[in-house]
This record gives sequence, structure tokens and C-alpha cells, in this order.
Amino acid sequence: MSQITPVPVADYLGGLRSLPHPHLAQMAADGRAQGLPIVDDATGALLHALVRATGARRVLEIGTAIGYSAAWMATALPGDGLLITLEREAERAEAARRHFVAAGVDAKVNVMIGDASRYLHKIAGPFDLIFQDADKGQYGPMLDRLVSLLSPRGVLVTDNMLWNGEVVPGFVTTPGRNAADTAAIADYNRRLAGDPRLYTTVLPVGDGVGVSVRVAAEAGRGTHE
Ligand SMILES: C[S@@+](CC[C@H](N)C(=O)[O-])C[C@H]1O[C@@H](n2cnc3c(N)ncnc32)[C@H](O)[C@@H]1O
Repeated sequence: MSQITPVPVADYLGGLRSLPHPHLAQMAADGRAQGLPIVDDATGALLHALVRATGARRVLEIGTAIGYSAAWMATALPGDGLLITLEREAERAEAARRHFVAAGVDAKVNVMIGDASRYLHKIAGPFDLIFQDADKGQYGPMLDRLVSLLSPRGVLVTDNMLWNGEVVPGFVTTPGRNAADTAAIADYNRRLAGDPRLYTTVLPVGDGVGVSVRVAAEAGRGTHE
């Protein structure tokens, strides 16, 4: 998480937002106490709204941590919906499972422990929404597989596309992030922007959230259906 929106504005917007389940407050507190880079509430609420707006029934997440973003999405799924979330650290995945029980969404969430880049080739799509929030260096290498797992009008959501502003040339004078990750995200952002399979817009929410909608094969870019 990072702060692109000025704090007073973020606080004002936060006052207009409600949690879909009270346990999410505990999850956020636990995640921050452990120093985990979980999404902020604005990003969580955006994910929740996107799942509802798209009518998503099958969702895939890369990077569970303790399940905070997954809980925002799972609470928006219908009763027969499914969220598969991938986490390589077993201890975090187990904590996520406990949180899903407390948030009443465990019946809709399947936490898979292991390296997502291996799992992705075994998982069967399609998914109506995919949330990419794992290793930044893996965003590019995973992109083609994630696009192939999207349903025809599915949405790929990518976190950290602004990377605390460090991908913006000349904006951050003293970079604090890993330079290789910054370069990987900048490269990924350029790829997404030029990818004819997707229509992408990046929202200055949280740390920059990319919303990429799969373009139907028969529709060209910029044409109306
Ligand atoms: C930014 S945190 C996820 C935060 C979570 N989405 C949230 O907002 O609540 C990234 C997580 O992805 C996991 N991760 C990173 N690379 C991974 C990979 N290749 N496969 C599975 N998990 C991965 C890390 O262990 C970490 O817990």
C-alpha cells in the first residue's frame, strides 16, 4: 500500500465507505501489525464493486497474504461463487483460511499453497475477474497465461501499477523501492497499455490499480459493439 491520494482526501472518502463484513477491520489491523503489503480500503472497496458490477462468479487471485483483498472480493460473490487464491507462504495461507471462516466466506474461497507460476498451468479457467498482486517481477511473465484464463469479457485487475509513483519518470527524487521491481512494473504497464487483447485504464487508487477488460475477439480497439 502507498499514499497517492492526499491524506485528508483519503480520510474523507474513507468516511463514505462501509465494510462488507466487520471482520475486515480485524484483518486490516492484523496485516498492518505484521507489516504486510495488503491493499488499502479504497482498493478493497474497488475490488468489491468490480466483482458485483461484473456479476463475477469465478475469481482468481495471485498473492493472498492473510486474505484481506480476497475477503473484500469474496463478500461480493454470490452464494455459489468461487474465489481461488494462490499464496506461496504456508503460514500466511493458514492465517487467511482462519480469517475467511471469521468473515463467513470460507465456503466460497479455496486457498492454494504454492508458487503461482507453477499452479497457473494446472488451473482451469475461465475466470470472470483475476486480481494480480504477487511478485512484481512475475507480472510480465504471468500476463499471457492470465489473459488466457479470463472469460470473454473478463477483467484483469493489477495492483501497484504506480509503485508509490516511482514508475513516473522524474516524480520521485529519492527512490525507495527495489529498482528491478520498478523496471518490471514500468515494462508491464507499457505492455498492458499496448495489448490489443485488453482495454486498460489505471486508476490512481491505493498504489495504482489497473483495470483491464478483455476485448472480444471480433471487436477492434476503439470500435463500438
Ligand atoms: C502484496 S502481498 C498480497 C496482499 C493481498 N493481495 C492483500 O492485499 O490482502 C503479495 C503476496 O503474494 C505472495 N506471492 C508472491 N509471489 C508469489 C508467487 N509466485 N506465488 C504465490 N504467492 C506469491 C507473497 O508471499 C505475498 O504474501
